[in-house]
Amino acid sequence: MPSATKSFPAPASGRAPSPGARYPTAVIAMHWLTLALLAAIYALIELRGYFPKGSDARNLMKAWHELLGITVLAVVVVRLIIRRSHPGAPAIVPAPPPWQESLAKVMHVLLYAFLIAMPLLGWLVLSAKGALDLPLGLHLMPLISPDKPLGKTLQNIHETIGNIGYYLIGLHALAALFHHYWMRDNTLRRMLP
Ligand code: HEM
Ligand code: HEM
Repeated sequence: MPSATKSFPAPASGRAPSPGARYPTAVIAMHWLTLALLAAIYALIELRGYFPKGSDARNLMKAWHELLGITVLAVVVVRLIIRRSHPGAPAIVPAPPPWQESLAKVMHVLLYAFLIAMPLLGWLVLSAKGALDLPLGLHLMPLISPDKPLGKTLQNIHETIGNIGYYLIGLHALAALFHHYWMRDNTLRRMLP
């Protein structure tokens, strides 16, 4: 297929951007894997409330929330490394106004920051609480020494940013649908598996 993207692969000698240009497969895979992980992470931590405190089910849900959360950190690190070797994004056809492109860039930076900050905060919470055991016999190394009050504060920050995440992700997904159904450009198709 002829390649024509804004930055990767380089457009061949002045050809117009191809409406079929897509993100690299690895970037697409990481994007949707992250969504699947986040859906499970949110579901586990929200649904735990239906089980009594101290019950096995509740503890298991919290523990898997933590393990999948750490997995997000690993996935985003790999994703950013892949992204570095594929800078830029395939051109959107027809091109949206520059303000929309700038807004999208800001949102993407916020989403990446969220994907890094949330697992790190969760890890700090467990370190401060001195409760570093994960499922499957895994064990996190402490990032800070035990400190209960600090752990509570970090947990509040983790929960607040977690709730802000709903809005960030919701706005991001709505923007993608707006481009697809209203502007009828290829923004979403470039990211579909
Ligand atoms: C992207 C990754 C993550 C997201 C989106 C996320 C989101 C959330 C949310 C929304 C809550 C609050 C739920 C509520 O208000 O009831 C929460 C609680 C919590 N999270 Fe995370 N989290 C992530 C990763 C992690 C990680 C990696 C850890 C630990 C290694 C962790 C540990 C915790 C803990 C200890 C709580 C408090 C649970 C409780 O005491 O019942 N989280 N998380
Ligand atoms: C149903 C949910 C989602 C839809 C429909 C969606 C759709 C899209 C689309 C179409 C793009 C390409 C945008 C562009 O090039 O301007 C994109 C990029 C992106 N999405 Fe999503 N997304 C969803 C969920 C998520 C989630 C849960 C996250 C992470 C919290 C996320 C993070 C990102 C990031 C960081 C980019 C920028 C990719 C890059 O250029 O490196 N998305 N998404």
